Amino acid sequence: MRARAFLGSCFAVVLGWGALATACGGTASDDEAAAQRERDRQQAKDYYVQRVHPTLTNCVGCHGGTAGPRIMAAAAEESYATIERTAGLIAAPRNSPLIQYQHKDPAIAVGADQRNVLTQWLSLEATARGLEGAIEKPKTVTDAYKQFAECMNFDVWTFYRMGDLPFTQTDREGPCLGCHSTGQGSAWLSAGARETFDKTRSFPYIQKLVVGKLDERGSFEGLVASGRFIEKANEQCPKEAVGCHPTYGLPPNITNAIEGFVDTTLQNLAGGTCNSGIVVPQREAGPTDGGDGG
Ligand code: HEC
Ligand code: HEC
Repeated sequence: MRARAFLGSCFAVVLGWGALATACGGTASDDEAAAQRERDRQQAKDYYVQRVHPTLTNCVGCHGGTAGPRIMAAAAEESYATIERTAGLIAAPRNSPLIQYQHKDPAIAVGADQRNVLTQWLSLEATARGLEGAIEKPKTVTDAYKQFAECMNFDVWTFYRMGDLPFTQTDREGPCLGCHSTGQGSAWLSAGARETFDKTRSFPYIQKLVVGKLDERGSFEGLVASGRFIEKANEQCPKEAVGCHPTYGLPPNITNAIEGFVDTTLQNLAGGTCNSGIVVPQREAGPTDGGDGG
């Protein structure tokens, strides 16, 4: 509580952040923490503007003033401001009506992609604003790998059939597990699904799934999908080279498995739902009909 009031009083006076020390009389690390919070809030807002708002077209179609409470707007910045002014919407993912609200009309629901970006965004907001249920932001990439590893869930791994990846054939040199069954090239792909899962949780193998992203100041910002298993297939082999990696093309279901597993785990991490596994309503769940176009 004290800390929050203290930060609040700083924000009023900070223009350039050189002024911070005198204005608040805090220590260097307090100043740095306040500046970091400000950057975190900006980052969260940018995420809304760039990633979330463009996916909310249907929501905005009603909530921009046509139907239901006016909690959004057509323009991203204005929409952000409107959401921010509506009490309770910006909250940790599991508490926010933006994700949790069930419309009276059951046909109106938050889609899987919308849920994904809303979860990531609200988690950034919750952390930046110190809201209840916020996930502690890792300070280093090592911490982040540890968090990701702890969040990796074997049910999710199985759900996406990640166990099929090691059996994928290369064009001429057999399946991945023929060479990677004890972690060659820092890629662990063995016949045992559980073993591959356990190894992939640890460094350096985990980097084949996620890597740290740096912000423009060069400090650690967060984890993103690395797509190494997917990208490796696109590596060019110079004509004169010897000993290039065997060529392969991953079948689409395997590519989807990797992306699905990594996205779901990042989302679970952001939403604090690592143990419950699949939180995304399954894509293409239920009967599909090519008929009325919704
Ligand atoms: C077809 C119009 C329509 C669409 C599309 C729509 N909503 Fe709604 N929404 C409503 C209406 C009407 C209400 C009022 C209560 C109800 O009908 O459930 C509402 C209520 C809400 C509430 C509760 C607000 C409050 O103050 O009680 C939230 C939150 C919400 N919608 C979020 C969303 C989100 C997020 C989306 C997009 C995934 C969305 N809505 C899409 C019409 C819509
Ligand atoms: C004939 C043996 C062989 C087979 C089969 C094989 N690999 Fe490799 N792989 C290697 C070797 C050797 C390295 C280390 C040298 C390199 O990076 O090319 C490696 C490295 C890798 C790396 C890590 C290096 C990086 O750039 O991140 C990935 C990822 C990888 N392989 C994916 C695969 C996948 C996926 C398959 C199956 C579709 C596969 N490999 C099949 C031999 C093999």
